[in-house]
Amino acid sequence: MFSPSSKWLFSIIAGVAVMGIAGTLYLNHSSDQNQAINQPSNQTILASNWDRVNESYNGNMSMTVYRSPSCGCCGIWVEHAKKHGFKITDIKTDDMASIKQKYNISSDLESCHTAIIDGYVMEGHIPADDIKRFLKEKPDLIGLSVPGMPIGTPGMEAGNTKQPFAIFAINKNGSTQVYEEYETY
Ligand code: CU
Ligand code: CU
Repeated sequence: MFSPSSKWLFSIIAGVAVMGIAGTLYLNHSSDQNQAINQPSNQTILASNWDRVNESYNGNMSMTVYRSPSCGCCGIWVEHAKKHGFKITDIKTDDMASIKQKYNISSDLESCHTAIIDGYVMEGHIPADDIKRFLKEKPDLIGLSVPGMPIGTPGMEAGNTKQPFAIFAINKNGSTQVYEEYETY
């Protein structure tokens, strides 16, 4: 008498356990789905990090950009800068090495393009709004650099990948400090 009913009880417990596991899996799955659904709105926030306009800057907007004619991403970054009001003198050169040398950009700070504005060096994929903030501050520094070419910055898009990056301020003695950091954007 005892054993059949305990068997029955066991199967109920087992059934509930299976449903519980299934339910947990379902919940996990649906929260994954929610994340997937949320991604486009994240993207809007990310995009706005490049598109944001916090700084109202009324100073000189004329910037000279040196870039290799074969670099595609530089052109997209130039478009980004133009969109934010910078007037670009676009100089294409195959000899970027001498530009880096001329402006004392060490190899660990190098990116693809070098922009010059008000005597400051703006190396690589720096958001326009950060350039404006820097120019407003008029610091006693060489300039800013985003070394390399972080995946996900203008012209360096690869799906939804956003490689975290830092903007370094370059001191006159060549040392650097973090000016701004982007975990996501
Ligand atoms: Cu570039
Ligand atoms: Cu590049």
